[in-house]
Amino acid sequence: MSKLKIGVIGAGSISEMHFKGYDHNPHAEISAVCDLKEERAKAKAELYKATKYYTDYHELVKNEEIDAVSICTWNHSHAEIAIAALKAGKHVLVEKPLTTSVEKALEIEKAVQESGKLLQVGFVRRYASNTKVLKSFIDAGDLGSIYYAKASCLRRLGNPGGWFSDKSRSGGGPLIDIGVHVIDLCWYLMGRPKVKSITGNTYRKLGNRSHIQNLSFYKAADYDPTKNDVEDMTNALIRFQNGASLFVDVSFTLHAKKDDTQVKLYGDKGGAEIEPELHIVSEKHNTILNVTPQVDHLTFDFNQAFQSEIDHFIECVMENKETISPVQDGVEIMKILCGIYESSEKGIEVSF
Ligand SMILES: NC(=O)c1ccc[n+]([C@@H]2O[C@H](COP(=O)([O-])OP(=O)(O)OC[C@H]3O[C@@H](n4cnc5c(N)ncnc54)[C@H](O)[C@@H]3O)[C@@H](O)[C@H]2O)c1
Repeated sequence: MSKLKIGVIGAGSISEMHFKGYDHNPHAEISAVCDLKEERAKAKAELYKATKYYTDYHELVKNEEIDAVSICTWNHSHAEIAIAALKAGKHVLVEKPLTTSVEKALEIEKAVQESGKLLQVGFVRRYASNTKVLKSFIDAGDLGSIYYAKASCLRRLGNPGGWFSDKSRSGGGPLIDIGVHVIDLCWYLMGRPKVKSITGNTYRKLGNRSHIQNLSFYKAADYDPTKNDVEDMTNALIRFQNGASLFVDVSFTLHAKKDDTQVKLYGDKGGAEIEPELHIVSEKHNTILNVTPQVDHLTFDFNQAFQSEIDHFIECVMENKETISPVQDGVEIMKILCGIYESSEKGIEVSF
């Protein structure tokens, strides 16, 4: 079987994980690169031996040689690029979040249905080996029915600036950027329940804290702190139709003692923590057990998870299989994210 020819659109920070993933996959070949910045596209094309590079994605999707694309651009352009690629007959791996509104998410879903092509959303946490281990316990019923989950991703200093803090390009702040990962992780492990209602609060109290000295933090490839119209912090309570609930809080800046990421799930037979590392809690012979699985990666392993995400995408395309992170899930997560922003803006609980 010949190799799948790949085009990577957006050659900034996260694209490196996609390039490396395709490069290590024996069934894929990086064929073209596109970035608004020609030098960036050219440099990646040279590094990964792609024969073509572009500054306009329309040109890349016109290239008939290309079978599939990865979209690693700013959030607001995911929808137009995904739809153009699908209409041109390409399979699509799109970075999270799927897009920036429910309307655009539904347009992407329609384009997937009409094209018959595969679209995989880059919910990379689903592909981590610790998630897969926990999911096998959950699928076997070890946690019973999961009725509560709690997800925190708090940065005390970590507004990446650039496009991340420009709402017109990002669609929002920490909620849409990092909250999306932990919300999706809980929702996926809870068995993807239907949302019933959402209460959310967003805060813009501290700004980006770019004045802070002597403490480094993650910055966008084109860092610029001057534009910042996204929230610093969001919290939300999400209720599901099956009675389960999820509490989440996320921040780019907060007067917290340290950064803190926690993801916990509670069922009627057992519980689990997946952040900061995997532990399972159960009960046997009238005794509570805290179980630590003996695995290579108890914590989230970035390289392993991205390689697994890319390998799964290639396998699904080549073998015509369903992906574990399909467009429908991207739409549902978009409903949750937008519901939180809507609830906060209106100051009310929103119902679905
Ligand atoms: N899965 C993860 O853990 C993870 C981590 C970081 C970022 N991301 C996602 O990846 C995407 C990119 O983030 P990043 O950190 O790499 O940003 P970045 O700013 O480092 O890179 C984005 C690149 O896209 C290019 N670009 C923007 N619009 C374009 C267009 N229309 N056509 C061609 N090129 C275009 C920019 O010039 C830039 O080089 C975002 O959607 C972000 O949410 C995912």
